[in-house]
Amino acid sequence: MAFQLNNVVPWGRNLEEYQMMFQLDESDISKKIAGFGDGPASFNYEATQKGYSVTSFDPIYQFTKEQLQQRIEETRVTVMKQMEENTDSFVWTNIKNLDELEDIRMSAMKVFLEDYEKGKQEKRYIYHELPEGLSIEDNTFDIGLSSHFLLMYTALGYDFHIQAISEMLRVCKEVRIFPLLDLAGEDSEMIQDVIQYFKEKYTVEIRDTEYEFQKGGNKLLVIKK
Ligand SMILES: C[S@@+](CC[C@H](N)C(=O)[O-])C[C@H]1O[C@@H](n2cnc3c(N)ncnc32)[C@H](O)[C@@H]1O
Repeated sequence: MAFQLNNVVPWGRNLEEYQMMFQLDESDISKKIAGFGDGPASFNYEATQKGYSVTSFDPIYQFTKEQLQQRIEETRVTVMKQMEENTDSFVWTNIKNLDELEDIRMSAMKVFLEDYEKGKQEKRYIYHELPEGLSIEDNTFDIGLSSHFLLMYTALGYDFHIQAISEMLRVCKEVRIFPLLDLAGEDSEMIQDVIQYFKEKYTVEIRDTEYEFQKGGNKLLVIKK
């Protein structure tokens, strides 16, 4: 089925959150990074401003700035209402309350929208839908990231995940996936099978992160060649 904008609920995180989720220290962040499913995150813009190399891939990059802006406005109230109904599922230490959360997410998405057209021209935002093959050479990137997409959308199935992560591992020397929870905030049912599969060929490790916003969302999967 074609990727539809009215099925997308845009929600973007910032550079500081990416650094914490993915444990990107100074040496990691200076490497060539690919973000898969980066959506409307401000990670790419902020990292680029600091002189780092980040290329983001997402199916939403087929839409115009105006279409994305409109969709962000349409979904904002619904998402915040859902957050309000589920405050107990989150750890309110770094982000103190719902107002702060809304501010952080909306400013990240505003920054993304302002950068979007320039970033597309500079090929920093590339329209791509996993698990499709990319016309990019093997090992082009040092690190490939997936935040709040892979392992979370378990309904996409095991084969989708294996194919998507395999394509990431073709173009990246290392892949990091965060968090290891599904959409209900439970441990992803995918995780053990995915680890078993990639352990055959690669070094696979689960790391604890200091970052934890969703309760239990403090684990990072690292797969290295
Ligand atoms: C919850 S958002 C996370 C955005 C960003 N990674 C962040 O953490 O701020 C999930 C993203 O996955 C993207 N996505 C959905 N299907 C995808 C696919 N088949 N391949 C790559 N990205 C996809 C969506 O468009 C959306 O931008």
